[in-house]
Amino acid sequence: MNKWTVDKIKNAKGREKIVCLTAYDYSTARIIDQAGIHLILVGDSLAMTMLGYETTLPVTMDEMLHHTKAVTRGVKNALVVADMPFMSYQVSVSQAIANAGRFVKEANAGAVKIEGGISRTNTIKALLDQGIPVLGHIGLTPQSINQFGGFKIQGKIPQEAARLMKDASALAEAGVFAVVLECVPADLAADITASCSVPTIGIGAGPGCDGQILVTHDMLGIHSKVSPKFVKRYADLDGAMQTAFENYAADVKNGVFPSLEHSY
Ligand code: KIV
Repeated sequence: MNKWTVDKIKNAKGREKIVCLTAYDYSTARIIDQAGIHLILVGDSLAMTMLGYETTLPVTMDEMLHHTKAVTRGVKNALVVADMPFMSYQVSVSQAIANAGRFVKEANAGAVKIEGGISRTNTIKALLDQGIPVLGHIGLTPQSINQFGGFKIQGKIPQEAARLMKDASALAEAGVFAVVLECVPADLAADITASCSVPTIGIGAGPGCDGQILVTHDMLGIHSKVSPKFVKRYADLDGAMQTAFENYAADVKNGVFPSLEHSY
């Protein structure tokens, strides 16, 4: 048994790289867990990968809970983190506690993730007071896509970079166990990592972070419409699935399947 806890993730800083992926269903979560991945995020990216939306904004608490329950049923060792969807934690601290509590109580998540910097510190402290660990997320925070005007790299100009440095320290001080840095220049991510007391988990943030996360569908080559520069494809499942479906269709049409071998 090699169970990954919040403390273990925190203590990995400077010792070993923290390996993270997203998952949204039981079967994939089980395989990811068996591969020894340390942290599995039930990302609100499931709005796009699983539900076909253009952004993460429409996904609901009930949809996130449904997928988180499936993931935790498949995982033995990884820390499962549930992503709090847009407007589930921004309206009030008490609503944030109630919603985060549902992820822990109903879906068996080990922690929640919320997007944002200094402005989220009260919410983070309130969640920690209730015993709910929090993963921070700064840089390109997709729930603020309308404010950013698109999926753009953050922290390119000095004022933005300084703000992200402050956000990271404020989150660490508030008590997050790690911070996701999304789409920030590699040198800035390395500087934040060096000055931050908790691990940084990069996505599009270069090699200097304490850990790495990718959207599983991206690295497996599923949903291949979008392919950001930071994604390395480890498989072409879109292609492999398409071929399998076409071969099956041809076999059925030609009477090749089912054969006697597959019959009772
Ligand atoms: O929703 C998600 O998948 C995420 C990761 C990209 C960090 O937030």
